[in-house]
Amino acid sequence: MDIAVIGAGYVGAACAACLASLGHRVQVGERDPARVERLLEAKSDIHEPGLDSAVAAGLASGLLSFHGNNAVAVEGAEIVFLALPTPSTPDGSADLSIIEAVLRETASSLQRGAIVAAKSTVPVGSYDRMTAILSDLGADAFVASNPEFLRAGSALDDFLNPDRIVIGTHEASVAEKMTELYRSIGAPVLVTDPASAEMIKYASNAYLATRVAFANTIADICEAAGADISDVLKGMGMDKRIGSHFLKPGPGFGGSCLPKDTRALVAIGSEAGFDADLIASVIRSNRSHTDAIVTKILTVIGNTSSPRVGLWGLAFKAGTGDVRESPAVHIGASLIDQGVTVTAFDPMVTKPPAPGFEMAADAVGAASQVDVLVIGTEWPEFADVELGPVADSMRGTAIIDARNIINQQDAEAAGLTYMGVGR
Ligand code: UGA
Repeated sequence: MDIAVIGAGYVGAACAACLASLGHRVQVGERDPARVERLLEAKSDIHEPGLDSAVAAGLASGLLSFHGNNAVAVEGAEIVFLALPTPSTPDGSADLSIIEAVLRETASSLQRGAIVAAKSTVPVGSYDRMTAILSDLGADAFVASNPEFLRAGSALDDFLNPDRIVIGTHEASVAEKMTELYRSIGAPVLVTDPASAEMIKYASNAYLATRVAFANTIADICEAAGADISDVLKGMGMDKRIGSHFLKPGPGFGGSCLPKDTRALVAIGSEAGFDADLIASVIRSNRSHTDAIVTKILTVIGNTSSPRVGLWGLAFKAGTGDVRESPAVHIGASLIDQGVTVTAFDPMVTKPPAPGFEMAADAVGAASQVDVLVIGTEWPEFADVELGPVADSMRGTAIIDARNIINQQDAEAAGLTYMGVGR
């Protein structure tokens, strides 16, 4: 099929490369000329495993192309995917202005009967808004909701092996064409009305956020009451109704999606006259859990003069260089605000994520002369660092492992005082 993808962020670039790998002709529109240049050389600015080689294969096959002009990219496309940012507005609702601007920019270039499918996470009612805009502009096109569930760090694999494909449309012909596009993937397809499709994405992300916040709350109670979260979660997970996935305690959920989408869901509820207090409390609980880690670090520091903290990890999770709404960055920035010198190392983040961060060249360097060492991101290599030399180079002895990835016995054998989450 002839496809266009507008927006070459991690969702758009991954979708485009995967669709080309399935044999579709994919024209990508991206407004940032520097990003287009890099993608044309198969050197994406996003750290996403396998993305550059998939882009290189798409370019080599001639099926994948990148364009700085969105109107050119949509020419001849039967399906146009919008993979554009929908940032939070100050009241938490999703800002659709980028999507609306792209519709205006491309409407007159859409081929007759084209399907404009929203991959971006868009609030309930966006289908109606997008349909109205296109019809006002005289475009003879359909709108569809086709939320994407891929994760940063495993984007290609998630796209090609999804648990489900959700298509929101009122038109049988649109459902048929979209189902046809994904046929070779072989995943179950759920066709529903557009509002329900839009809601499935928010509800899924809010449920995942709730699981993480729940695990962290139980971890906090375990810590206070003297239980061990690892065994508690193991025991809970053995119940098939619960399962053990997405229940790892940590410094709180972050990233470009879960925080934004939970806020947006509260706003969607409130616009509809419903107080989504459960979701609002998940957001509050997530923030206070992260703040409690900051308090724990400050308590360990006590009255030390010119306190120094080493921070291992800045990305919001392992496998990505993305620091958006990263709890590790929040912890570091809060410490800096309290007058602490923070030296950070992350294998994928080389620039200071916010003012005041000092960057080290490696994990051992970040621990040098610090009073407390904090693990903020669960990069597997942190668990392999030999702790003896780390302990020797530190000024203090405390290690606060906000990801529970360090073996407590190893840390103690190296002379460190170990504190994890929930144990
Ligand atoms: C999330 C969803 O998982 C995807 O399905 C969705 O498509 C995507 O948002 C999106 O809306 O675009 P992502 O933000 O890449 O994906 O990251 P996740 O793997 O979901 O992790 C989110 C946060 O929860 C991270 O900060 C992670 O460290 C934390 N987390 C996750 C935990 O603390 N514990 C867990 O057990 C799982």
